[in-house]
Amino acid sequence: MLVRLPGVYPPQEDTWLLAGALARENLGPHSHVLDICTGTGALSMCAAAAGAGNVTAVDISRRALATTWINARLGRHSVRMMRGNLTEPVGGQFFDVIVSNPPYVPALDDVLPTRGVERAWDAGVDGRMLLDRICAQAPSMLAQSGVLLIAQSVLSGVEKTQTMLEERGLGVEIADRAEIPFGRILSARAALFEARGLIDSGQRTEEIVVIRAVR
Ligand SMILES: C[S@@+](CC[C@H](N)C(=O)[O-])C[C@H]1O[C@@H](n2cnc3c(N)ncnc32)[C@H](O)[C@@H]1O
Repeated sequence: MLVRLPGVYPPQEDTWLLAGALARENLGPHSHVLDICTGTGALSMCAAAAGAGNVTAVDISRRALATTWINARLGRHSVRMMRGNLTEPVGGQFFDVIVSNPPYVPALDDVLPTRGVERAWDAGVDGRMLLDRICAQAPSMLAQSGVLLIAQSVLSGVEKTQTMLEERGLGVEIADRAEIPFGRILSARAALFEARGLIDSGQRTEEIVVIRAVR
């Protein structure tokens, strides 16, 4: 069970889809795992519980890291926690597995929230403001044969993710996918998404995918 401080993203379908993909990776005592955008630390705890010897969790939110710290203590897991912007706190380091469930929901504008729970999902008009940065930064941080696992919605351009990662020399596949009903945030934006042609009229589900890219 995970503790969650107010304002921290509750683990949900995308978290658990990614956790399933993470569990299929080779996580031994010598493996180094990086969890970018850790939130409650759910994926870091999964990696540590699966046997990963070195787990690093990064988030920009102090509350998220406090939550991760509590969850690591409760689960008796050893997790290194770093506050900062995506990969910045771990620049120059290499990882066997990088996992990320970043904000990817298309928003009204390209102004990223600097506080509040919206910071967990708003990702600019095309939903790619963080995805693009992860796709640009993470490949060069993978160890030889290292694996990058990213969750995102089809509303935020899966092909662009695949192309960016392939351009950086990675082999890319869709590791998992799930069709899920719109939650509160997407329901409130349904008319906007219809107007932008992102969804069909009356559509109230989205597909979440896990992209697996290997160096
Ligand atoms: C969708 S939540 C995912 C949380 C968790 N990994 C999970 O799957 O349940 C996204 C997280 O990204 C964090 N975040 C947003 N912008 C960030 C940034 N620029 N750098 C690092 N973390 C960021 C938010 O604080 C939030 O905790």
